[in-house]
Amino acid sequence: MGNGIAHVFAQHGWEVALIDAAAPALEKAVATITANLGRQAKKGTLSEADVAATLGRITTSTSLEAAADARLVVEAASEKKDVKFALFEQLDRLAQPNAILATNTSSISITEIAARTKRPEQVIGMHFMNPVPVMALVEVIRGHATSDATTLTVMEMSRGLGKTPVEVNDYPGFVSNRVLMPMINEAIFCVMEGVATPDAIDEVMKLGMAHPMGPLALADFIGLDVCLYILEVLHDGLGDDKYRPCPLLKRMVAAGHHGRKSGRGFYQY
Ligand code: CAA
Repeated sequence: MGNGIAHVFAQHGWEVALIDAAAPALEKAVATITANLGRQAKKGTLSEADVAATLGRITTSTSLEAAADARLVVEAASEKKDVKFALFEQLDRLAQPNAILATNTSSISITEIAARTKRPEQVIGMHFMNPVPVMALVEVIRGHATSDATTLTVMEMSRGLGKTPVEVNDYPGFVSNRVLMPMINEAIFCVMEGVATPDAIDEVMKLGMAHPMGPLALADFIGLDVCLYILEVLHDGLGDDKYRPCPLLKRMVAAGHHGRKSGRGFYQY
């Protein structure tokens, strides 16, 4: 999601330092941004000059030091607690004292991440949705210590990206995944129990509920490993068995069928 986040910030006038530990990931990200800006230009929603200016505002780096002058840092690293905790400890040391440290986590507690820093009032969740250039929402998540000033600033910045921010509090899965993941999990139970085929289940939800994608195609799009991880966070964090991950989901993840990114999930890619 990092490439999409860099894309929208740069498109809306921000100078962006895109950071990844691996140089090939940065090359891939810039290629993806270029392709997605190309789509916008082809449709006429962005001029060729705007495409060039957007790309010109993005620099890449493999060093976290590139965040040293930032007003806002948006972390979108792997969805692993240890990775995020280590990053926030480092960012807290090197970022400007007044910088806001945001995370695009889809499930890890903002409060716990903030507690790794000496500026918990300036730590917040900025949860973008995939595909980031297309989806209108930013779920803005307040940790236990997040200040009103930080929240207001991030709400305003999100509007400046052409998005609609919605403020929520820090409980497992926030709102988006607490509501979305049980639906996806239930669709997987329907496959496991032979209620219907994946195609049939997705058709029911697309045509009957006007969802742009069926829940199983969406699960493949998000990544089945990510869906399983989020369900485990909901199950552990809320302690309610209604969030137990479907055994078929666990089995598919164990088999390496992680959805679109692995070429196979409920569908073949
Ligand atoms: N960058 C820029 N533009 C993109 C894009 C991208 N990566 N991907 C698609 N688009 C644009 C297309 O150019 C097209 O634009 P127009 O309608 O203006 O022509 C539009 O988006 C639709 O794309 P397509 O015609 O290729 O395909 P589609 O109509 O099937 O839509 C979709 C694709 C936008 C992904 C749509 O199926 C959709 O909205 N799906 C649901 C997505 C969703 O639920 N996302 C949230 C996932 S949950 C999450 O992200 C968070 C989490 O924590 C798990």
